[in-house]
Amino acid sequence: MYSVIILAAGKGTRLNLGYNKVFYEIKQKSILEYSVDYFLKDSSFSEIIVVTSEKDQNQVKELLKGKDFKIVLGGITRQESVYNGLKKVSNKYVMIHDGARPFIDKNDIEKLKSTVKENPCVLAKKVKDSIAKVSFGKLKSYVNRDNYMLLQTPQAFLTDKIVKAYEQAMASENSYSDDASLYMQELQEDVIILEGNENNIKLTTELDIKILEAVL
Ligand code: CTP
Ligand code: MG
Repeated sequence: MYSVIILAAGKGTRLNLGYNKVFYEIKQKSILEYSVDYFLKDSSFSEIIVVTSEKDQNQVKELLKGKDFKIVLGGITRQESVYNGLKKVSNKYVMIHDGARPFIDKNDIEKLKSTVKENPCVLAKKVKDSIAKVSFGKLKSYVNRDNYMLLQTPQAFLTDKIVKAYEQAMASENSYSDDASLYMQELQEDVIILEGNENNIKLTTELDIKILEAVL
């Protein structure tokens, strides 16, 4: 059995809707509901933990009324929000997912489930453009894009170990933008990369709305 933490405690500043982007509706369904519904339908997830801000919690409760989920209050950063969610996890394995990623591919989830039994793992996609190391508006050095991937969620872990990694990171005030990087860096252990579906984008800017309208 798996638990999933669905993160929805952000503000959506870059999309600038005037409200949290996870409430944005595509095809009459909010972004947040797409992920919650996916995990509700998959019976191997016996625990769904939605992390929300104090300000949004009533709206989340109303939106997900009647559904089987737990609600946890998040923090200022994504990392704090995950940490708060992790304290409530009761299964052996946990997946951590951005509530702002509504396109979930069953194949990707099945790959994560089988891989996490042996190793922590993360979905990722290839880099299409050239990337550069920059400093003060100037190109600094050449990097080969074949050595880089863009990390997605869900990311999957043995609960005890990701909790340990988070406790260590919080105690030493190290900050990370995703969980696999935190795990790898704090525990000095390998995390397996699984190539995920390209449609698994994170709603961040206006263009993402157009893409999600096409793929959802
Ligand atoms: N998130 C969270 N708690 C935070 C910050 C982010 O739970 N303190 C969640 C967001 O709700 C989102 C996911 O983490 O589902 C990925 O973060 P991001 O795309 O950066 O969302 P926001 O922080 O809401 O957007 P922005 O950075 O543009 O303000
Ligand atoms: Mg953010």
